[in-house]
Amino acid sequence: MSAQPFFEINVNDDVIIEGLPIWSDNYAWLLHHRPSGSTLVVDAPEAPPVLERLAARAWRLDGVLNTHHHPDHVGGNLGLQAATGAPIFGCGADAGRLPGLDRAVAPGDRRTHGPWGLEVLDLSAHTRAHIGWWLPALGLLFPGDALFVGGCGRLFEGSPAQLTATLGRLAALPDAARFFCAHEYTLANLRWARSLLPDDVGLQEAEAAALDRRAAGLPTVPGTIGAERRHNLYFRAGEPAVAAALGLPQPSPVLDVITALRAHKDQHRG
Ligand SMILES: [Fe+2]
Repeated sequence: MSAQPFFEINVNDDVIIEGLPIWSDNYAWLLHHRPSGSTLVVDAPEAPPVLERLAARAWRLDGVLNTHHHPDHVGGNLGLQAATGAPIFGCGADAGRLPGLDRAVAPGDRRTHGPWGLEVLDLSAHTRAHIGWWLPALGLLFPGDALFVGGCGRLFEGSPAQLTATLGRLAALPDAARFFCAHEYTLANLRWARSLLPDDVGLQEAEAAALDRRAAGLPTVPGTIGAERRHNLYFRAGEPAVAAALGLPQPSPVLDVITALRAHKDQHRG
């Protein structure tokens, strides 16, 4: 299936990111370094639209970064590898589930690959070996399905305690860090958050801004860690109002609030 219109973000004079909407709500992210010509892709659901964009821009693929094993993230691995010879990076603990994996990494690893300085974050919870790719020199995070604008990924294999630890690692990143998640789920997440905190003016404004962007055909991604601190209820689990909205005692342990938030979101429709 061919890609929908891509969009481009200039990170600085040297680095461009292209977001490639694929299927109904996935994004594959192409990172291009102008001086060296090096290009990485994070989480390609399928190869053809990525190869199309690489050809259109005459960009050389130097690596595929996987965040986790779900097919809408690794479906493009083998096609990209066959067409370009690019290495596939992913969590070694998930080696059996990441097609073509030939550069195994572990949480805490720091790698230099061409012009790219990469750090591997443990973002397990959505799946048991989910990782995030953090580029500290650029302040860019690729969290896959661990973090979305206004929300986080479902717990398919991990526990609320793992999610709480992962959220702690995400919250340790600087406010200015920009994150490029793998799905356009912002409006659904903000609608859910507003169902719990209907009078929260910041959430109302965030939803209005996201609606404007979507109406104009624009993505709501990337987000920033600073904005998530203000809007994302998982980051706000220590606020008495969040516990109260869930019918929990105040104060409640953050783990209890995060457990209840995740269960509430899983039940939420609309
Ligand atoms: Fe996933």
